[in-house]
Parts: sequence; structure tokens; C-alpha cells
Amino acid sequence: MTASISPEISADLLAWYGRNARDLPWRLPPGATLPDDPAWPYRVWLSEVMLQQTTVAAVKPYFAKFVGVWPTVEALAAASDDDVMAAWAGLGYYSRARNLLKCARAVAERGGFPDTEAELRALPSLGDYTAAAVAAIAFGRRAVVVDANVERVVARLFAIAEPLPGARKAIRAATATITPEDRAGDFAQAMMDLGSHVCTTRAPRCLLCPLAGECEGRKQGEPERLPVKPPKKQVPERRGTAFWITRARGTQVWLVTRPAQGMLGGMRALPDDGWSAQGDGSGKVPLAGEWRKLGAVRHGFTHVHLTLEVQALETLSQPRGAGQWWPVENIGEAGLATLFAKAAQLAIAARD
Ligand code: ADE
Repeated sequence: MTASISPEISADLLAWYGRNARDLPWRLPPGATLPDDPAWPYRVWLSEVMLQQTTVAAVKPYFAKFVGVWPTVEALAAASDDDVMAAWAGLGYYSRARNLLKCARAVAERGGFPDTEAELRALPSLGDYTAAAVAAIAFGRRAVVVDANVERVVARLFAIAEPLPGARKAIRAATATITPEDRAGDFAQAMMDLGSHVCTTRAPRCLLCPLAGECEGRKQGEPERLPVKPPKKQVPERRGTAFWITRARGTQVWLVTRPAQGMLGGMRALPDDGWSAQGDGSGKVPLAGEWRKLGAVRHGFTHVHLTLEVQALETLSQPRGAGQWWPVENIGEAGLATLFAKAAQLAIAARD
């Protein structure tokens, strides 16, 4: 049985938000009137896509870059896939960038963002969370917004002890009971701020919490135990090789574009041995020659930890397959995902 919490609690939370809201570039101050400007839902949507599985600190510079280069959804819709993938490089979870572009093109086509949760949800590549967040934050609709921070606050407030992910249904239902009709967007962002600064995963600061008096998890004595996480899965270790192929005395490097499907799909990259397809580092080499082993870089993805050996070759030949020669001095603008940026850094350091 889930505890019952007074819906009036939203007033306490909104009062707290009025004093403690974070000032973020995609936000209005608490209680502000929503702008009647098509750039507003665009900014909210863009920020919400970026913030999924990514911290506020990491998102800020990317948000600034995107709204600087593409200030409207129409501008983003008209951008090339390559430019958007390159601008996203380093932010991770690259399927988000592909989905972002797909959705932007559909929104531009229909003449702007719809303003209800159901219509937002019907857009291509826009999921339940984003539809609820944009409906509430951009359009002031009542929508139940549950991200990982809200999940933690609500699991504690209602003392929901069922382990995740099974608990999600109860957490959502409990969140619905306290989501107000008015200011649902402020309410959602207040819950997020509370989760990230007060109701933290470890050592929650209950003495600062406006909801502490009602919190069932606190009454039961161990709020930090909630929500109960499923046992950690072992992440497999893989090995592979990336190839740093240069010409013109190491001043140009051969870059490829990864296939649209699969890991880091559509991103510019160093050629590699196919580790992502087979996981066996099958030794596929794009050119015959005297390869030099430079060392290895490690990178953790959600589902795999990878050790990537970096091998280098200076050549006069053209490597097999499609690709382009890229000036090494501009490698920072190639839009390499973090894994390949680390490999490039290793190769450049080895040369220097
Ligand atoms: N995480 C996801 N959406 C957010 C928002 N609007 N503000 C702060 N953190 C968030």
C-alpha cells in the first residue's frame, strides 16, 4: 500500500521553489507568465532532450551552442545530419541527436510545436517523459512529469519500497496525486531541484526539505534506502582497435562516418576494427603497412566498457572505403564522440 500524502503539499513545494529555484538558461523565474513565442517551447524541448541521462552542468554549454547556431526549430530542421551530430559530440547517447533532428523536422513541417501532451507524444521520436515535460513547462498544462530526481523524491515521500523498475507504476500514480492543476511546470522543476540539491541519492538533507514533515520515508527512518535499486548488472568488457592513419607528415588524418545504425551511429570517427559489430576486435585493418601501437584508451558506455588500442600509420595510399582527410590541427571541430576524441588525443600526444 502506498501512503497517502496531502495534495496541498504542492503549495509548500512551490513556495520553496519561489525561494530556491535554480537560474538555468532554459528556464523562466518561478511563477512567470509563459511567453507567447515559438522559440520558447523549442528551448524547453531542446533542454529536456539534452537533460535526459545528462547533468545540468554538462548540458549548459551544448544548450548555448545549439540555440546560438539554431535559434528556432525551423533552423534546426534545416541543418544537415552531419552538423547536428558533430555539435552533439561529447554529450553522449547519440540516438538522442538523431531523434532530435527527426522530431524537429516533423515540428517544422507542421508549423510549430503542438501544445498538448497527447499531440506532443504523437510526434516522431518524442517519448512520454519529454511530452509531459514540454506540455507542463512550455505550455502550463497539467502533466505528470517523472524523471530520475522526481522518482527519488516520490519514492521517499510515499515510502514506496518496491524495487525499480517495477515501482515506476506506483511512483507515477503517487506523483499524479500531488501534481497541481496550476503551475505543473514549476511543480515539476521544483521536484527536480529538490531531488538534485536536497533529496539527494546519498545523505539527503532532510533538515532543508520543505516536505520533510510529510515524508513517510523519513518517518520510517531510512529515506536514503529508497528507491530500492535493482541489483547492478555486470557490464561486459570489450577490446578493439582504432586506426590513426595520417598523410602529409601527420598533418591530416583519415576519418570515416559510422553507419547510421549501431553504436555512435552517424558520427564521424576514426576507422576501427569492427569491435562494435562483433565485439571480438576481429583484426580488420584498413591498410597494409607498418602499424605502430601507441597505447590504449578506456571508455565506459552504459552497456559496455571498452578498451580501445590505438595504432598509427603514415601512408601515401588512400584507405579502403569512404572517408575524408581531416586537418589534425582542426580535429576539435570534427565532432568526434568522446571515445574517439580520447584516441585522437593519445595519437597527437604520441606524435608530440
Ligand atoms: N532535468 C530534466 N529537466 C530539467 C529541468 N527542466 N531543470 C532542471 N533539471 C532538469
